[in-house]
Amino acid sequence: MPSVDQHDPNRVIVFDTTLRDGEQAPGFSMGVEQKLEMAHALAALGVDIIEAGFAAASPGDEEAVRVVSGEVEGPVFCSLSRATESDILAAHRALSHNRRRRLHIFLGTSPIHRQAKFNMTADEVLEQAVNAVSFARTMFDDVEFSAEDAIRTEPEFLADVLEAVAIAGAHTLNVPDTVGYSTPAEIHELFDYLKRRVIDNHPDTILSTHCHDDLGMAVANTLAAVKAGARQVEVAINGIGERAGNCALEEVVMALRTRADQFGLTTSVDTTKLVGVSRLLSKVTETPVPRNKAIVGINAFAHEAGIHQHGVLADARTYEIMLPQDVGFDGASFVLGKHSGRHAVSKRASVLGHDLTGNLLSAVFAGFKRRADEIGEIDDTELLAIIHSATSDQHEHRGAHAPA
Ligand code: KIV
Ligand code: ZN
Repeated sequence: MPSVDQHDPNRVIVFDTTLRDGEQAPGFSMGVEQKLEMAHALAALGVDIIEAGFAAASPGDEEAVRVVSGEVEGPVFCSLSRATESDILAAHRALSHNRRRRLHIFLGTSPIHRQAKFNMTADEVLEQAVNAVSFARTMFDDVEFSAEDAIRTEPEFLADVLEAVAIAGAHTLNVPDTVGYSTPAEIHELFDYLKRRVIDNHPDTILSTHCHDDLGMAVANTLAAVKAGARQVEVAINGIGERAGNCALEEVVMALRTRADQFGLTTSVDTTKLVGVSRLLSKVTETPVPRNKAIVGINAFAHEAGIHQHGVLADARTYEIMLPQDVGFDGASFVLGKHSGRHAVSKRASVLGHDLTGNLLSAVFAGFKRRADEIGEIDDTELLAIIHSATSDQHEHRGAHAPA
């Protein structure tokens, strides 16, 4: 039996690989303490499965899987494993403290992997996959199989492998786009075919999608696979992962939620924690989140253009498709700069305790535009300085014209 309920056809299982595929990318490596801190945050976020590492990769990785899966409660914990007995045993040792565990076995199935990596025939690859899953099932109730480089594998052979490992006891059949090569239309067609060929004959299994972002299509491809029947998404916070990264968790979850009219599917993620987890990852890996990053970048809900600011102040729905609070921001943030209008400047001044009208507002707005041309963004301190300067200019001006 898989440790996550796979029977609800309207629910997408969120498998987080920030601590494995994400962590194995240059610049994102994490020690045990960092993984622990992140795993607590991911558990609070509500992900279903945490892939905590690749136990056989190094003693450090085995230790991290052991500590994290032993200390954090909530999600199912998982270790990656090659299709070999020694890897499977290492993962079993590392996960022995937690009953809610999954083994994730991968084996390359594409012609290039079969020839260049293994020098094996297709039949030999299929046999190794089945043997590994059968052996794993003697110690794990929940086994996932990944056909590495599935997208470049012949579809009929891919279906043969997935069907054979399903019969051997794998409940989750993962179809990775290992090299980020697919397109939404292509992956949709493939998942549609696999669903009809494999899943419909093995109703206790589900298809999973795992997309890389080499061509910038990881999120689009993941959503296309979901639309064609995938019920598990493999994702990472901030989209970190090998090369250009993995599919970003926050983007897929918010797309499913915001476009429920298109998908009609739910996840267990508490979206109000997305920004917090994103910031934590940025802190532990010392890597800033790009300002324009979808969902969690600081510009994601910031409006600078005057016309946009005016619209959002009148009704946020003019330029916002999600509420900032829904992903964990305090509120819409207005970046004041040279494109901002008088309305936004007066509104911010009012929040700062200055209700500007008439000539004073005109003077502040003129000073604001001059300063914005010089330095770009105008923060609260700058705005207050402009207001003070305009106010004292007006006082002096009045004083100069006061009757003697
Ligand atoms: O990209 C990939 O193929 C992987 C597998 C190990 C699932 O990360
Ligand atoms: Zn991957």
